[in-house]
Amino acid sequence: MKNFKDKVIIITGASSGIGRELSIQLSEKGAQLSLAARNEIKLNEVAEKCKMNSNNVIAITTDVSKKEDCKNLIEQTINKLGKIDILINNAGITMWTLFEDITNIDLVEKIMSVNYLGSVYCTHFALPYLKRSKGSIVGISSLTGRTGVPTRTAYAASKFAMTGFFDSLRIELKNSGVGVTMIYPGFVNTEIRGKELGADGEQIGVNNLKDAKTMDVKTCVNIIVKAIAKRKREVVMTLIGKLGLKLKLIAPSLVDNIAQKAINK
Ligand SMILES: NC(=O)c1ccc[n+]([C@@H]2O[C@H](COP(=O)([O-])OP(=O)(O)OC[C@H]3O[C@@H](n4cnc5c(N)ncnc54)[C@H](OP(=O)(O)O)[C@@H]3O)[C@@H](O)[C@H]2O)c1
Repeated sequence: MKNFKDKVIIITGASSGIGRELSIQLSEKGAQLSLAARNEIKLNEVAEKCKMNSNNVIAITTDVSKKEDCKNLIEQTINKLGKIDILINNAGITMWTLFEDITNIDLVEKIMSVNYLGSVYCTHFALPYLKRSKGSIVGISSLTGRTGVPTRTAYAASKFAMTGFFDSLRIELKNSGVGVTMIYPGFVNTEIRGKELGADGEQIGVNNLKDAKTMDVKTCVNIIVKAIAKRKREVVMTLIGKLGLKLKLIAPSLVDNIAQKAINK
């Protein structure tokens, strides 16, 4: 993928955070965008901003946990933009509670259906078109998709599930020309803080990480955009993340302690 000019890119979770910044940066590179999220007002605001840089930008209100919404997202993209070059599965929700404290176990299903099944549904409906364009599928996972983190049981499970799914799919698609890029960010400074689901399955409403070291969203998206352009297999962000995954092979308990400390900060 030498450049993004006139590539048709679907971005889920485009109404805020990483998805919003991805939309803006890719519009600046001349991509045609199909933007998806549930919040129509915020999604349209992002679309309007992107239209200042790119001719073809559409916003499609989508709940990725609903199969029919994902099907509609892909169909509308084809009807209006004619092809799909890149699908970025970015929509995601997280949690902040110990497993033993959970009072509403539906929380687990909610997280799995957005982070994991949402990515699977969009990929399923987009795949025939991606094969035609020899395009790329991108999964925005998390370091929590590679190593366990306390207070994040269901979130980690959903991100590990994405890894298993997309690593398998990459092999299946080896001779099809379709690439699969997995992204593993650490803590990124986005609007996700305070939206984490608590023990009762509702958003906690407070930012527990305000004093923690987080990556700026622009820096995170710069890294993602470069990885997509190079059709990289995967990107693990931050030095600690990279070292941690190597260390996990020889001293996994030490990595458990690092994960515990990151949450206790
Ligand atoms: N921020 C971090 O520290 C961090 C670290 C590692 C990985 N990540 C991952 O990066 C991705 C983006 O997170 P972020 O930090 O940018 O969070 P964010 O600012 O909260 O954005 C999340 C996006 O996902 C969308 N979304 C949530 N539920 C959805 C649903 N059912 N259907 C469609 N869209 C949905 C939201 O839009 P609506 O509410 O409008 O639907 C929003 O646009 C997530 O997958 C997250 O797990 C984030």
